[in-house]
Amino acid sequence: MADLVVMASGSGSNFKAIAEKLANSPHRLRALICDKPDAYVLERAALLDIPAHLALYRREERAETEKEILSLLQYYKADLVALAGYMRVLTKYFISRFSGAILNIHPSLLPKYPGTRGLEDSFNSGDTELGITIHVVDEGVDTGPVILQKSIVRAKNENFDEIARRIHQLEHDHYPAVILKMLDGIDIEK
Ligand code: GRF
Repeated sequence: MADLVVMASGSGSNFKAIAEKLANSPHRLRALICDKPDAYVLERAALLDIPAHLALYRREERAETEKEILSLLQYYKADLVALAGYMRVLTKYFISRFSGAILNIHPSLLPKYPGTRGLEDSFNSGDTELGITIHVVDEGVDTGPVILQKSIVRAKNENFDEIARRIHQLEHDHYPAVILKMLDGIDIEK
């Protein structure tokens, strides 16, 4: 058994997909950490009966908030942290405390279109091949070592909503599976 904590800021469709995958596994999704008080992911956590914690960033005191998050990760004995639409950049210090054990999902084929508008930028590029990247988090923005990339081929005239739906489906199909595999590996090493 290994323990996961998810960090998210938005709707939480990936959070839900991860929770459902882990429910049928020996591993535990211990908690959600969210930085936005009105994020829908908080409601999802309540519905799924998963403890949720708000980590509010006050002004520029990123290190203070990260200290709170690190205590939570310690409290839950997190073996792995999965960012799932977490809209904050983590400090070098934070990442060094969990080196190699923080994953992220990004809605583009990195290194193309990093940043908060990955999906919009991919769509607007006109590229025919679009996709997702699951990677280990390092100090850069969406620059860490790639674990898995999956792509779709854009059909002619597909609009943004249609593409977004397919990209999210790709995320839900693959991110929970990658997380599960990593947790299995951690479990064996423990
Ligand atoms: C996903 O598209 C993910 O790739 C990006 O943020 C989005 C989060 O969606 N990092 P959701 O909150 O999981 O629905």
